[in-house]
Amino acid sequence: MKIKALKGFKDILPGEVELWQILENTARAVFEQYNFHEIRVPVLEETALFQRAIGDTTDIVEKEMYTFVDKQQTLRPEGTASLLRSVIENGLLVQKPVQRLFTIGPMFRHERPQKGRLRQFHQLDIEVIGSKSPLLDTELISLAALLFSELGINVSLELNSLGCPKCRPAYREALLAFINERKDKLCSDCQRRSETNPLRVLDCKVPEDRALMANAPSIQDWLCEECGEHFNVVQQGLERLGIPFRLNKFMVRGLDYYCRTTFEFLTSDLGAQAAVAAGGRYDGLVELLGGPAGTPGIGFAMGMERIVLLMQQSGQDFQESIEPLDIYIAGLGDHGQKEASRLAWELRQDGFSVGLDYEGRSLKAQMKLANRENATFVFIIGDDELALGKGVLRNMRDRDAEQMELELKAEAFHFLDDLL
Ligand code: HAM
Repeated sequence: MKIKALKGFKDILPGEVELWQILENTARAVFEQYNFHEIRVPVLEETALFQRAIGDTTDIVEKEMYTFVDKQQTLRPEGTASLLRSVIENGLLVQKPVQRLFTIGPMFRHERPQKGRLRQFHQLDIEVIGSKSPLLDTELISLAALLFSELGINVSLELNSLGCPKCRPAYREALLAFINERKDKLCSDCQRRSETNPLRVLDCKVPEDRALMANAPSIQDWLCEECGEHFNVVQQGLERLGIPFRLNKFMVRGLDYYCRTTFEFLTSDLGAQAAVAAGGRYDGLVELLGGPAGTPGIGFAMGMERIVLLMQQSGQDFQESIEPLDIYIAGLGDHGQKEASRLAWELRQDGFSVGLDYEGRSLKAQMKLANRENATFVFIIGDDELALGKGVLRNMRDRDAEQMELELKAEAFHFLDDLL
């Protein structure tokens, strides 16, 4: 019986993986422009890290984590908690009081798989730890906006503020009073949420609940002076940069660590999975995880599967950004193949990308392979030329170009540097 991949776990095959590379390379270039440094953290952590950071009553912690129950260890469902754990454990804030970090990798959530939603998915995760400036919130949002524009993807930005431990309790009470007036009409999930995490009721996807909550009080009207001022500066900053946004009082996010600014980049092109990037401030989280008291932080993560789907749907031709093979060597006969393998070694040491195969195929079959590999040149080592210590170079991009005889050594190919 064939063994298949797990449900919600997907292979990224050649043909698609090139898009991932383009995404990753574009992202790395933008991260560099914004002066971010890479950090790599493990995929397995103590379960308590996520319980504490994300919150016990969130869907992620309650229902979606892959936990080795006997070991109290969990495959990370997101990057922020692990990244902060590492920053604290390694004392990075002592070396540099503001850390600008990114990490790229797989995350694991046991959700119901559908288009754009997997159980192993990948995030580009960007975090700044150690600054509370609202200008930083604007800067981070601008980073995402630049990356989307470099990739040619259309998204819209939604913004909210979740206040802070000073102003949120009063809002929570006001919201709860509003919820309680219509509690028996809400879905059973929301009835439960109203007791554990009432803000999440705002986030419910059930249309009847949305209608019932349409006139719920907005947290934006309940912000304390400092949070209100912070939120204003963020919005003015975005206006100054010419980045359009829409305020959304219903955006509360599915993780408990947020305060003040939260934001999401949305698309209408992926059905139900609208969020392609999301994040916000988490000023209390470093302290909650045992780091220095009062250390602020902000970050966001981009869902790579969703971005790749949008790249595919955008109709752009990314072929041009894929590096073709420089030279395919077609060695004919036993001797020809041996010479091909020696020459390939020389050429690769000199920096060329080289393809060849060892199956003793006919010249016609090898030319087909060279085409499929998108080779720029083919070098044929056949019996006649071999006797003279030479082979024949063909230009696959320009069929009218003259064939050339070249000696079987790498130096003879150096003139190609200008053509490749
Ligand atoms: P999140 O909203 O849970 O936030 O996830 C961020 C993004 O990851 C989503 O907008 C979506 O694009 C992608 N994503 C989430 N779940 C899946 C899934 N099952 N399949 C495919 N893509 C998915 C966080 O994870 C926070 N750690 C973001 C953050 C960083 N906040 C501050 N810093």
